Amino acid sequence: MSSPKPLEDKVLDILLSNAGSYVSGAEIASALGVSRMAVSKAVNNLKKKGHVIRSHPRLGYCYIDTDDLLYLEEYLRDLSTRLRYRVVYFEEATSTQDIARSLANAGVEEGTIVIAEKQSCGRGRLGRDWISPPGGLWFTIILRPPIPPSKITLLSLLTGCAVALGIMDITGLNPRLKWPNDVLLDEKKTAGILVEAVTETDLIKYAFVGIGVNVNNEIPREIADIATSVSQELGRRVSRVALMRAILKRLEELYTKLVYGYVDHIIKVWKSLSSTLGKRVVVYLSEKDKVEGLAIDVDSEGLLIVKTDEGKLVKIYFGDIIHLRHKTYSG
Ligand code: BTN
Repeated sequence: MSSPKPLEDKVLDILLSNAGSYVSGAEIASALGVSRMAVSKAVNNLKKKGHVIRSHPRLGYCYIDTDDLLYLEEYLRDLSTRLRYRVVYFEEATSTQDIARSLANAGVEEGTIVIAEKQSCGRGRLGRDWISPPGGLWFTIILRPPIPPSKITLLSLLTGCAVALGIMDITGLNPRLKWPNDVLLDEKKTAGILVEAVTETDLIKYAFVGIGVNVNNEIPREIADIATSVSQELGRRVSRVALMRAILKRLEELYTKLVYGYVDHIIKVWKSLSSTLGKRVVVYLSEKDKVEGLAIDVDSEGLLIVKTDEGKLVKIYFGDIIHLRHKTYSG
């Protein structure tokens, strides 16, 4: 038996089906058989999650279903985050990673976001290409985390968490993480994260946190069995502005934890979203070298611990992991 829909979701449905027009609190309250106060509370929670909803004392509430990334910075103003997000927008870029690097060298502040409607040379992890057609979210955030370079995996893990939680906040879907930071919906890749850094002795001078989310874009047929988009899983288009706000809000919360040294919190959140732990995996360390076993844990630096069939514990620093379907080991 499926559990009843929370009030927040029912209010969202009404607002979405009237997107762009005002619906009064009284109308929503009577349609759902609840008080106007309950409606107002639900709307506030939706706003906190990232949805853009205008409130008017007489007219009620209006869902702003905008996809216009050109004005993103305006929509980020009320987020009241410690990090001041500034947006540099491009209709087309080679890779937002490269532009972010030049801007950082030119002295832009931490929190600067480079975003593009499409990328011609999008880069993925492990030297792969990243297909970035219109309709997705392709952006890089410039950060200066006060951590040694050896801890950069934590930044990569927390970004995966922020993207997964942001998608959850806006859509109610249940994204999971494949170590270190692939965001999966229905076990198919929906978002990927590429963290690059410029280091100076034992400090990270800049980190370029590149995030690619398949949102409303088409998934090429060649990768349809391994990749999906948020809209495909949800069955409707999603406001990229709302999703951006939700991801950036979650990122700020988790990044603050990293800055203040609450590493345990980050690991705990990652584990709660993990699809990898408890699964049998193969980790390709290079073309010739692989490790196979059960993914049993993630340590305090974010490294994956795999227990091989011989009972050896192997720490994985990086690599491409594959989840095996059948659990043939239960140690
Ligand atoms: C992965 O391989 O999973 C990481 C994909 C990262 C893609 C993003 S899109 C924005 C930024 N610019 C790039 O060229 N890559 C990252």
